[in-house]
Amino acid sequence: MKIYLIGFTLLIIANSATTLSLSSVYQCQCENLLQQSDCLSDYCTWDPNESTCSNKPCSGFSQEDCFGVPDPFNCTWNYTTSKCEEFTQCSDYTFKTAEGEKCYDLIKCQVDVDTIDNTAGTVKCMDRTQESAMSIGSCDKVPYEECNWLVTPDGKQCLQNTTAKTCEAKTITQCSDYATIDLCNTSSCYWGDTCKPLTCTILPEESCMLFFSIDSKQVTFCKWETDKCIDLDTTTLTQTQCLPFTLYSYAWNPDSKKCEICQEASSSSGFLLYGTLLLSIMLN
Ligand SMILES: *[C@@H]1O[C@H](CO)[C@@H](O)[C@H](O)[C@H]1NC(C)=O
Ligand SMILES: *[C@@H]1O[C@H](CO)[C@@H](O)[C@H](O)[C@H]1NC(C)=O
Ligand SMILES: *[C@@H]1O[C@H](CO)[C@@H](O)[C@H](O)[C@H]1NC(C)=O
Ligand SMILES: *[C@@H]1O[C@H](CO)[C@@H](O)[C@H](O)[C@H]1NC(C)=O
Ligand SMILES: *[C@@H]1O[C@H](CO)[C@@H](O)[C@H](O)[C@H]1NC(C)=O
Repeated sequence: MKIYLIGFTLLIIANSATTLSLSSVYQCQCENLLQQSDCLSDYCTWDPNESTCSNKPCSGFSQEDCFGVPDPFNCTWNYTTSKCEEFTQCSDYTFKTAEGEKCYDLIKCQVDVDTIDNTAGTVKCMDRTQESAMSIGSCDKVPYEECNWLVTPDGKQCLQNTTAKTCEAKTITQCSDYATIDLCNTSSCYWGDTCKPLTCTILPEESCMLFFSIDSKQVTFCKWETDKCIDLDTTTLTQTQCLPFTLYSYAWNPDSKKCEICQEASSSSGFLLYGTLLLSIMLN
């Protein structure tokens, strides 16, 4: 009975959340899709005997799908062979310095500024040092052209000094810390007469989907309703809306008939584990 209550509490927390930490975003995989109607045939294989849905292997994906599938598929694009392959480890990947942002397309990787090779014009990737979409080790070695809102472990951001043409670490805690329209990052802020924080209600229909927190560590989901953009309430989502409206972060649970998070931030497979426990206790 105690475990039942734990499961139930988790369910409530998951349902009221519209802001997720980055580690919970885009984490659904085919195993989370419990009904054939949800088991997307482009990415998953439905086993009619077992009634299970499983990930297709990376080798079957086009370049677009290879980039598009959520992290748990463990797929990366090999630019040499032009094939979709299993991701190995961040440090195995090297790109041209000007294309360093490709490290962020891999799985939980960032640019390793200490490996910038000016002769070869290349840079290597490394494991992400913090759960931020824009994580970087330090700003001073970042080329001026690539100096765009990267976030350092001490919570500063790399911003262009347009006069000195250098990349400087600045303390940014709120949108108003971005002094000019060019520095005002439109993933979390917008420019009025000053740089102001985004909310769902500000967004026009074409970008009414999500926005990032200022440190790129959290994502807030929004939904277009009739004529305005509002905070997404996952409890109102239907089966067909569940995956796409949450960027593959929530999947439909046919038992509860609710749209539920695929992975909780704190425990790696937390929700599924409790969900299964909950189910087995209720059935027994
Ligand atoms: C399902 O079971 C049938 C009959 O046992 C078998 O022929 C078929 O290969 C199975 N399909 C899968 C996908 O395992
Ligand atoms: C991803 O694929 C690599 C290469 O096969 C494997 O070593 C690694 O364990 C996989 N990672 C996950 C999370 O499945
Ligand atoms: C891409 O494929 C080539 C040829 O098979 C291989 O040598 C290389 O290690 C692969 N690149 C990565 C980053 O895995
Ligand atoms: C840009 O760099 C110059 C020279 O180091 C410095 O004087 C100036 O304050 C910097 N500008 C900003 C906006 O930080
Ligand atoms: C702002 O920051 C985000 C990450 O939060 C990044 O993807 C984007 O390229 C940045 N630039 C603009 C113009 O929004």
